[in-house]
Amino acid sequence: MNESRGLLPRAKFVSFEGIDGCGKSTLLDRLASELTERSIAYVRVREPGGTSIGEKVRQILLDPACSEMTGRAEVLLYSASRAQLISQVIAPAMEKGVWVLADRFVDATFAYQGFGRGFELERLKEIQKWATGGLIPDKTVLLDCDVELALARLGRRQGSNRDRIELEGEAFQRRVRNGYLALAGEEPERFLILDASRPLEEVAQQLRAQFWPQNP
Ligand code: TMP
Repeated sequence: MNESRGLLPRAKFVSFEGIDGCGKSTLLDRLASELTERSIAYVRVREPGGTSIGEKVRQILLDPACSEMTGRAEVLLYSASRAQLISQVIAPAMEKGVWVLADRFVDATFAYQGFGRGFELERLKEIQKWATGGLIPDKTVLLDCDVELALARLGRRQGSNRDRIELEGEAFQRRVRNGYLALAGEEPERFLILDASRPLEEVAQQLRAQFWPQNP
């Protein structure tokens, strides 16, 4: 954690992933509070979205009325939002030594469009490489839990107000979950898998221990 680039401590790029309803945004709030307490500058972004163009793309992507959207259009729209976010927010922040906390990044495309929709992973990786210039997070926190638990949480939070992706249902979410676990298995150094079915305080403690092992 003490790498340096010139005089600036190297900013970390941390993404949070998991199936819908896993609770990643709540955990992201916790890491943000830890950074504030330690006077470490950060920006927080979400995908799709995070820029004014990206937020418009988000509306199209998540609108249940856009049910006729093709899978290829979906991949490209997520990638378009990401390209915009990197150029407008993520890259400038990292150049200034500011941490970036991202609510989803490329792994979401691999898990949802690759494992969920069945697009070939190698092709998606090529597209992502082009869209992102090869940027990948330093650390990816995967909040993992049963699909049943996540859907129950989602139901409590949103009632019947589901977006286009959440409406894909249980079998889809199951493929996405297994996809995330497979991705994490391929890159154990980058991924930190946390059990989202455990109490929040316990999970938050594991997260702190990852970033500040001496002083969690
Ligand atoms: P959110 O609900 O976590 O903000 O994410 C929006 C939805 O978009 C969520 O269902 C996951 C989905 N998604 C993809 O399918 N592919 C992607 O590349 C991203 C970033 C999100």
